Amino acid sequence: MEPALRIENLTTGYGQLRIVRGLSLTCASGELTVLLGRNGAGKTTTLAAVAGLLPIMGGVVSLDGTPQTGSVVERIRSGLGLVQDGKRIFRSRTVEENLRLGGFIVRRQRGAISDGLERAYSRFPVLKEKRKQSAGALSGGQQQMLAIAQALMPQPRVLMLDEPSAGLAPSIVEQVFDEMKELTKQGLCVLLVEQLVDYSLAVADNVAVLDRGHITINREVASLGSWDQLRESYLGADLEE
Ligand SMILES: Nc1ncnc2c1ncn2[C@@H]1O[C@H](COP(=O)(O)OP(=O)(O)O)[C@@H](O)[C@H]1O
Ligand SMILES: [Mg+2]
Repeated sequence: MEPALRIENLTTGYGQLRIVRGLSLTCASGELTVLLGRNGAGKTTTLAAVAGLLPIMGGVVSLDGTPQTGSVVERIRSGLGLVQDGKRIFRSRTVEENLRLGGFIVRRQRGAISDGLERAYSRFPVLKEKRKQSAGALSGGQQQMLAIAQALMPQPRVLMLDEPSAGLAPSIVEQVFDEMKELTKQGLCVLLVEQLVDYSLAVADNVAVLDRGHITINREVASLGSWDQLRESYLGADLEE
């Protein structure tokens, strides 16, 4: 069966600058694929191109076998969600307003917003408690939960997350990883960009490593001979331990 997300030979970048060259990876429903790579490798650039924020200069991005060439909004409608790096929520808006904005695209579908809010609040009860507070008043971990809940409002089938653990306390990092595992179990295809190698490999089905715009490793986590192989491909970059 065609995987939920297939990236084939993707080349992308900024203006004339090609940053990512020939990247291929897949993620099926119920699978978590992690894209690792040190700072500046091109991970955020990759997600931006998949989401439609940057041009696809070569290759194909497909959702359930359908090539994606449209706008960001069209790709969200096709089932793609993105949690950008840096917890990009509207800090001066309330928690609930943020969730409603996340559901903007489906706002005309009967019951979509109220059902979405209900799902968000049962998934993250703390957001319900704080629904009338401004998002900026939430803790870092709660802001990350809000960013994830916001991206889930239109019920994506593929969810991409860009370093969701960045800047969070270790206990909260675990919660975020648990949440991603849970989403995967519920049938989403999760494409995770991370720096935390050990945490990521503990939850991932597939791992891809990006080094200066090129994929150096792309395989099932279960088939990794040793983690040294991964380490080598970082060429001495800082890992978490
Ligand atoms: N807006 C931009 N214009 C030009 N180059 C950029 C821009 N954003 C990022 N880059 C460059 O693209 C490369 C990859 O960046 P990025 O995708 O953010 O890496 P990562 O997310 O893996 O840390 C870096 O060399 C970075 O300097
Ligand atoms: Mg990045």
